[in-house]
Amino acid sequence: MARLVIVSNRVPDPSERTGPRAGGLVVGLAEALVPGTLWFGWSGRRAETTSTTAKMTETPDLTYATIDLGEADYRAFYLGFANSTLWPLFHMMPSLAVFDRADYAIYRRVNDAFAEALLTLLRPDDLIWVHDYQLIGVAASLRARGVANRIGFFLHIPFPAPAVLDILPPARELLASLLAYDVIGLQTNRDRTLFADAVHAAFGYQMTPDHRITHQGHSAQIIVAPVGIDAQAFNAMAVRASQRVETRRMIDSLAGRALMIGVDRLDYTKGLPARFEAYERFLSRYAEHRRKLSFLQIAAPSREEVERYRALREELDHKTGSINGAFSDFDWVPLRYMTRTLGRTLIAGFYRTARIGLVTPLRDGMNLVAKEYIAAQNPLDPGVLILSIFAGAAEGLPEALLVNPFDIDAVAEAVHAALVMPVDERIERHAALLGHVTAESAQVYCQRFVAALTRVTHPPLVPRATSGKNAA
Ligand code: F6P
Repeated sequence: MARLVIVSNRVPDPSERTGPRAGGLVVGLAEALVPGTLWFGWSGRRAETTSTTAKMTETPDLTYATIDLGEADYRAFYLGFANSTLWPLFHMMPSLAVFDRADYAIYRRVNDAFAEALLTLLRPDDLIWVHDYQLIGVAASLRARGVANRIGFFLHIPFPAPAVLDILPPARELLASLLAYDVIGLQTNRDRTLFADAVHAAFGYQMTPDHRITHQGHSAQIIVAPVGIDAQAFNAMAVRASQRVETRRMIDSLAGRALMIGVDRLDYTKGLPARFEAYERFLSRYAEHRRKLSFLQIAAPSREEVERYRALREELDHKTGSINGAFSDFDWVPLRYMTRTLGRTLIAGFYRTARIGLVTPLRDGMNLVAKEYIAAQNPLDPGVLILSIFAGAAEGLPEALLVNPFDIDAVAEAVHAALVMPVDERIERHAALLGHVTAESAQVYCQRFVAALTRVTHPPLVPRATSGKNAA
């Protein structure tokens, strides 16, 4: 069987792969993380210059290969083009996007450095699976270096509408870079339609009925593969966590009140200011629920060197103060707001305890919190998921209380509806939701992508005459 090579900007710390903080990509890729798999990416360290030789770390179940990023490259590639240009644009927030030609040139150069460092580690039959917007150019760089392997790409974030993508000066170039992959995976049908529309607008090509797009003689397969979780394992973790002393302390602190929970990275795409405003609206409008609900928002700090993220943190500090100042009682605080991360296991126990899961991003690729919240519930007395229609997860979870997060009144009303929902309806909705989460699992996600990549039978180039030093 061909070896799988995973390429992503972040590579988990080998010691944390199964630890309490393991999450994100590790969860989605669990199925692919089998002995023999190579995971290549940024070490998370900054050095004077970007390295082009990877540092190898062998563990019993995986091999890690990492490179350091030079300080200037970190700023231009990671903070700059990836997170100040692509991130806001792809999340349909063009007013927050900035463009700097020099940053883009460095983004391309860093993608080349990834390809260069990967080159010597590759075997001719490796399946290469590149992840996310930070690394769009890696396939084209590898091809330019004569790599003939099958190479796939998965976009974890949403694909933007063509009119928004058009704002980006090198949009055509990025689309062409994407079309150098053999398989392009997207989270939702909506993303695939938008991608096909953007390619059509840029080059005039139509996607075929079997979802192929041909560019300069090379055909790419465009697949939809929603990222998932292992619902059963997460449920078992939630059940265990609900017995933990911390969960007991949390339940005791509620003093019989219902809990509403939100868990997000502190990112403007997550819609936290609007969510807080909706909670404030709920508290003012539904006086009968005051003192009967506590809202816990866990917000893990993220990308703090980008100014917009710092401003968001200040805004939320301010809003928290004003909500609690206006509504708190001497023995009740309506909003518990934490800007630090808790372990995933403990959070699983909190999800199980929470009567409402509030997931209202303004735009999100998938959102695994929504799926984890569903998986964590007690099926006989489940909580209610309130989910933004702009999260990729909404496409596959129609029985959630779906809301437009820009409609503050609608979100406030949904909180009320969730609180008064009869248990029969909660059970019915939850059973349907759990069915979807179980069917669209992490395992199915990985298998779907790897199967599509394995099916690629026409490597576009002749294999390199001399293979890398680690070649089989
Ligand atoms: O989901 C998008 C994503 O950028 C992932 O690629 C990344 O692992 C995660 O969000 C956290 O972002 P960052 O790596 O910038 O901290």
